[in-house]
Formats: sequence, structure tokens, C-alpha cells
Amino acid sequence: MLSERCFTAEGTTPIQLVSSKDFDTWQAQLSAGQQAWLQRQGFTARKGQWAWLEEDAGAPASVVTGWDGRDNFDALGGLALKLPEGDYSLQTPATDLQILGWALGAYQFSRYTAASRAPARLQIPSANNADKIIHSADAVAFSRDLINTGAGDMCPSHLAAEAAALAETFDASCRITSGDALLDMDCGAIHAVGRAAEDPPCLIDLHWGNQADPAVVLIGKGITFDSGGLNLKPAAGMRWMKKDMGGAATAMGLAYLIMAQKLPVSLRLLVPAAENAVAGNAFRPGDVLHTHKGLTVEIDNTDAEGRLVLCDALSIACAEQPELIFDFATLTGSARSAVGTELAAMFCNDDNLALALQASSTSSADPVWRMPLHGGYEHMIDSKVADVVNSAASPYAGSITAALFLQRFVTDVAWTHFDIMAFNTRTRPGHPEGGEAMGLRAVYHYLEQRFGP
Ligand code: BES
Ligand code: MN
Ligand code: ZN
Repeated sequence: MLSERCFTAEGTTPIQLVSSKDFDTWQAQLSAGQQAWLQRQGFTARKGQWAWLEEDAGAPASVVTGWDGRDNFDALGGLALKLPEGDYSLQTPATDLQILGWALGAYQFSRYTAASRAPARLQIPSANNADKIIHSADAVAFSRDLINTGAGDMCPSHLAAEAAALAETFDASCRITSGDALLDMDCGAIHAVGRAAEDPPCLIDLHWGNQADPAVVLIGKGITFDSGGLNLKPAAGMRWMKKDMGGAATAMGLAYLIMAQKLPVSLRLLVPAAENAVAGNAFRPGDVLHTHKGLTVEIDNTDAEGRLVLCDALSIACAEQPELIFDFATLTGSARSAVGTELAAMFCNDDNLALALQASSTSSADPVWRMPLHGGYEHMIDSKVADVVNSAASPYAGSITAALFLQRFVTDVAWTHFDIMAFNTRTRPGHPEGGEAMGLRAVYHYLEQRFGP
């Protein structure tokens, strides 16, 4: 577990946070020797910058690090893999979010090759909420590990095994419906997308908590590899499609956090898992699928597969009229054009909920930006032969038409859809390059505010 690698019960080397704007006054109270030493290291307390402060008059050597006064990952999120290995303690108070940043910046993916070093370990001060920090760090690390794993080792059945293990840990129930049994459940869309792959498609359905508590459903797009199907992706577009289960990974990480924190909700996790592969029995452009909701879907493009697996899951979720539904999906390249790779595009059918989520996203350093479910574009997904078509003829507003497609399967429930990258294309403090849970903390923070003790 990540938290066991980057936290310690007993820190020895002290770390001081020095705010950039207080640097001059802070420095003035140091000895001349210490000032000179800081100067030689070029330390000016810029955010994330760190330096050694030599021992002085019996005080032990310590680390100073700069921060800009903001509550985010910038101050501590880069330190765990930069400071020498060892045990550290905080001399100045830090927020839970800053300490979480330490952990998230300490993450290394070591399934296939050993990490080159161990992270420095931090003692969590008694003033902080250690449980929540530890659970949050392990939740995100869980998501990242799932995403970073190669698609050959993370097929639908592997994802199902991960969900079953998660259920076991928290005494949840977990039902997996796979292969042709999906047709008995009327999940014609999940089945069609996944049937060409060696490892059959499945629907993961996990339940946890007290049924009397408010019902919250999390749904994650679990395309374990997206080749594009018969509308095959070009090489560059296919290269990172092991991450196309990033929505599922985010939903599973969030489920972990909710259960670890024992949030009083009645939780359901639905993951439609499938590999979008090419074979003689693959679904084709022009095919018409029968979905769980009863709507027929004309296939325009087999590469618009995410909305297909999600639509069956959404209609299953809505049947029980839960309080809230959140879905996470690496759904469109278009969302990436709109908001880039480091921001989650959010679509929501409830304005107050959207505002609250936006606020939660800011306070949890998990940025989301609302996009419109613009009704004027509905005509773009009308079909001449079926109830709806899976991809619009026009290339414009692709993330909106994808969200509008999903909305056709949602009935009378407050629903939020996150179109996410699920991957850091560069290393930033608290965000190492590679798989990333996006929207996880924003939603958790919202749920905690609304339902927490
Ligand atoms: N998984 C992709 C979307 C994606 C691509 C997300 C790159 C993040 C980074 C999705 O299944 C897809 O292929 N979408 C198509 C839809 C189009 C065919 C309507 C897209 O966005 O190009
Ligand atoms: Mn696709
Ligand atoms: Zn996809």
C-alpha cells in the first residue's frame, strides 16, 4: 500500500514550510552561517523548492520547503521522491490536502520493474486526519495501478477479480455477469462491444452499506483496451488505450474511499467491462443494438464504444431510482480538446449539484469544469433507422453529443457524468506521469459534506 511506503510513525528530520512572501523576514532570524548556506543553495522559498538548513547551536539539520500559501499539492507533492530516503516530520502545520499531496507524489508503479528508490517517509501530525489522508492516498494509488497495468494483464475478467477482492475487503456483495449471460439481462450493448475479445465482456455490480441510507451509484467505463473495433484507431490513437478503463478505475478508487471511510450511504458500483477488439464476430457500423432500456442504437462508428457500455449500466442504475448517479469515463477526445488533459469535463442535469461539485473540486485540488447538456444538439444523434445513433456525423461538440447520448438513458435521477483523461501526460507535484484518478476527490468531498457525520 502506498500509505505504508510514504508515511512513518516516527519522523526524525524536521521539515519547515516557508511561505514565499514571508521569506525575507523568516530568513532574517537565521544565523549568518545558515543564511549563507541557503543562498548557496539558491533557496528563495518558491513553491515546492527545498533546501537543507544546517544544524545550528544544537538544533538538528532540517529541510525547508517553499510554498505560495495555497492549499494544494504544490508545497509537499514533489518532495517524497526528491528528498533523501528517510523519516521526516513537519515542524510547521500543514493541511490534510498538503499531506495527501506528499503521498500522491510518492506513488510509483512497480508491477513490472522495481522502483529505483524508496520514497521519503513523513510522519502525519496528530492534528491532521490521518485516516482520511491514508484512505485517500490508497484509493488513488489503487486507481492508478489499475490504469497503469498493461491491457493484457487487465482484461475484463481481471477487472472483475479486482472488484471482487475490493468487495471482500469491505464485506460488500459483488455479482459478475459475463459473456452471453449479459443478453439474458438485456445488456445488448455491453455484449456487442465486448464479444469479439478473447476475454468476455462482463458487468460488475457491487453493493455495500445500509440499504436505509441514501442510495449512491458509481459507474465507470471499463474498456480494458480500445482498439477502435472495426473502425480501427491509427497507431498514435491506440497507443495509450490501456487507460480506457480509467473511468472504472476512478469509480473503484472512489468506492474504496467511501467504504474505508464508512460513509453512511447505500453504495452501488456498476462497471461494464469489455475489450473493444477486432474479430469476425465484432459488431459493425450499421448494426443496430438492443439496449437494456429498450432503446435501439444504430452503430455509426465502433470506436464510440464507451457510451454503449455505459448506456446499459445507466439504465440499470436508474431502475432503482437512487439519490445520485456519478459516471466516470475516458469517453471522448473532444473533451480533451475542450478542457485539456488536466481538467475533468463535467456534465450534470442538476444546477445546484453542479455548483456544489465545482466547489468541492476546488477544495480538494481535483479540478472539474462544467460543460453544457445543450438540447439544441440533440438532433445530431437522431438516427434514421433506430432510436438513437452512437456517433454524430459532425465532428463538432463531440463531448456534448456523447453526454447527450448518455442522458437519453437517464430517467429522473440527479446524474453527473465526468469525461476524463485518467492519465497525467507530465509529472507535476502530487501527479506523477501515468494513470490518474480524476474527479474522485471532488465527488468524495461532495458526498462527505452532504452525507458525512
Ligand atoms: N476512448 C476513446 C476516447 C479517448 C481518446 C479518450 C483519447 C481520451 C483520450 C473513445 O472510445 C473514442 O474513441 N471516442 C471517439 C468517439 C468518436 C468515434 C465519435 C473520439 O473521441 O474520437
Ligand atoms: Mn473508442
Ligand atoms: Zn474508448
